[in-house]
Amino acid sequence: MSNYHIKHLEEYYQVYRKSVRNPEAFWEEIAEEHFVWRKRWNNVLSWDFKKPEVKWFDGAQLNITENCIDRHLPTRGDKTAILFEPNDPKEEAEHITYRQLHQRVCKMANVLLEKGIKKGDRVCIYLPMIPELAVSVLACARIGAIHSVVFAGFSSNALATRINDSDCKLVITSDGSYRGAKTIDLKGIVDKALEGCPGVETVLVAKRIHSNIDMMPQRDHWLQPLLDDAYGDNVAEIMNAEDPLFILYTSGSTGRPKGMVHTTAGYMVYTAYTFKNVFQYREEDVYWCTADIGWITGHSYIVYGPLANGATTVMFEGIPSYPDFGRFWEVVQKHKVTQFYTAPTAIRALAKENLDYVEKYDLSSLKVLGSVGEPINEEAWHWYNNNVGKKRSPIVDTWWQTETGGIMISPIPYVTPTTPTYATLPFIGIQPALMDENGQEIKGNQVDGRLCIKFPWPSMARTIWGDHERYRDTYFSAYKDMYFTGDGALRDAVGYYRITGRVDDVIIVSGHNLGTAPIEDSINEHPAVAESAIVGFPHDVKGNALYGYIILKETGESRDKNNLRKEINQQITEQIGPIAKLDKIQFVSGLPKTRSGKIMRRILRKIASGDTSNLGDTSTLLNPEIVQEIMDEAL
Ligand code: WT7
Repeated sequence: MSNYHIKHLEEYYQVYRKSVRNPEAFWEEIAEEHFVWRKRWNNVLSWDFKKPEVKWFDGAQLNITENCIDRHLPTRGDKTAILFEPNDPKEEAEHITYRQLHQRVCKMANVLLEKGIKKGDRVCIYLPMIPELAVSVLACARIGAIHSVVFAGFSSNALATRINDSDCKLVITSDGSYRGAKTIDLKGIVDKALEGCPGVETVLVAKRIHSNIDMMPQRDHWLQPLLDDAYGDNVAEIMNAEDPLFILYTSGSTGRPKGMVHTTAGYMVYTAYTFKNVFQYREEDVYWCTADIGWITGHSYIVYGPLANGATTVMFEGIPSYPDFGRFWEVVQKHKVTQFYTAPTAIRALAKENLDYVEKYDLSSLKVLGSVGEPINEEAWHWYNNNVGKKRSPIVDTWWQTETGGIMISPIPYVTPTTPTYATLPFIGIQPALMDENGQEIKGNQVDGRLCIKFPWPSMARTIWGDHERYRDTYFSAYKDMYFTGDGALRDAVGYYRITGRVDDVIIVSGHNLGTAPIEDSINEHPAVAESAIVGFPHDVKGNALYGYIILKETGESRDKNNLRKEINQQITEQIGPIAKLDKIQFVSGLPKTRSGKIMRRILRKIASGDTSNLGDTSTLLNPEIVQEIMDEAL
């Protein structure tokens, strides 16, 4: 028997050692015993971090949807696969069984085929959290089309950039979406985006809010009539292990968003294996991850990981504050949720509200609580532990990234003793390293450094769509033969890891990864703006908020500053999305720069956080006098 389900700490250490000593033999055993393959691999792993090139299970053939759906039909056909909880609590929840999911995915696959989508084509999915989203993702995988899900909170500009970057031929969207008491005109956003996307031939539109929308003849089609006419079975396309499964965009510290490419077999094996262990998933459980499928958390731990294990996975359309701040707990009680996985920003927002919202509900079904997306602070950890877990449910603080595909550092609940704010131990097969500024590995415990990974793991991204060089430069050039995460971390006396945050120009706001460059580009397009610099500063709910330092052109000097602030945020909302709006905008006459012209963000960060006690050496700046001016007028 392979070590698919780890149940105690000695077993963790023993399996971990095995996975590091002989990774090929370890992963081969997991792959062999827990998945269905159309053809076996020739080679478990080949890799070279210099190129970089990584291949897992090369030569194998499979279809991930046969693993996530078809193989469960004989044993779990009538079990709920997806439990859809709508935005409005008065609307009934929908239990989609594995058999129904199979039929819906097959029908959607047949619609895509009928619209001319072939293996390898890119399909953009821009949908709210309704069943069609999961069904579309799986339908693409079924026919070998590469899905690119764009979070439906992104603006038309951001959507257009992503559609064009990967040449999507078809877009799946809806007439609109619900967000608490509001509705959002998704189709209008798509229409605007497509004005700049000549490659899109077809738009499929799901009906959700029944709004009156424009349909462009030839291009736009209502989805439901096509599904009604489609055949309810579909022969899955046979895929190679290393065929791309999906593209998912993530912000970089510079330039355009990066289309991270994930491939089929390794991603499947790793997300399934981590899901089973990190959530200690058992057959009768009801698992709920509150993320959106527009992010990697939703791909790996709402769709693929849970379904590969034959689990019941909750898909929640709503928000934590609607109709009131008790919504999460009402849903936990109603569906007897056993594993609950959310983000620190949600926990902090709910912790501010009256405890009655939590105490009103019976949360005794909960066995495991999860956290992901940013460091969880001690206060939020204790609130979660005391009030939601009632000190009975272990908290798994899971560290990972869009690029890693699956959870990398995390406790295993009921196995690893937890410590607040620590992601604790590397998961099976993961070999972290802490590096110093000279590129040397820092060995031993009670040390901190930059977090790298030394050895490939099955679900790592293989490239950036269309830009392999950028992939190499971003992740494999800072440290020789290592994957660089962009995070700092410390390792304590017992070898537990604590993630201390980004060491690059990525800022995590409410768990969303934002690059400074695209936001600055957007601000700089405003006619009154000459130059800008964005930094993060601590915020008690969002974790970080954005602080913008903006130099105006002469034409902007005489304008009303509050109006300008509004216009700049409006521009950011249109070009990137509301998540990237600035909390504070300070107009300045200059920015601190090094002699090579690089903005000294370190200084700006300190001023934004109100901590100017130790600004470090500013004498090497090109314009040291500006620092005092910025400090005097800081908001
Ligand atoms: C960045 C990746 C992985 C899914 C959601 C985010 C930060 C993520 C933790 C954690 C501290 C965390 C890191 C990482 N992060 N989880 N448990 N503790 N920091 O995916 O958008 O690709 O962001 O989120 O800084 O590099 P992402």
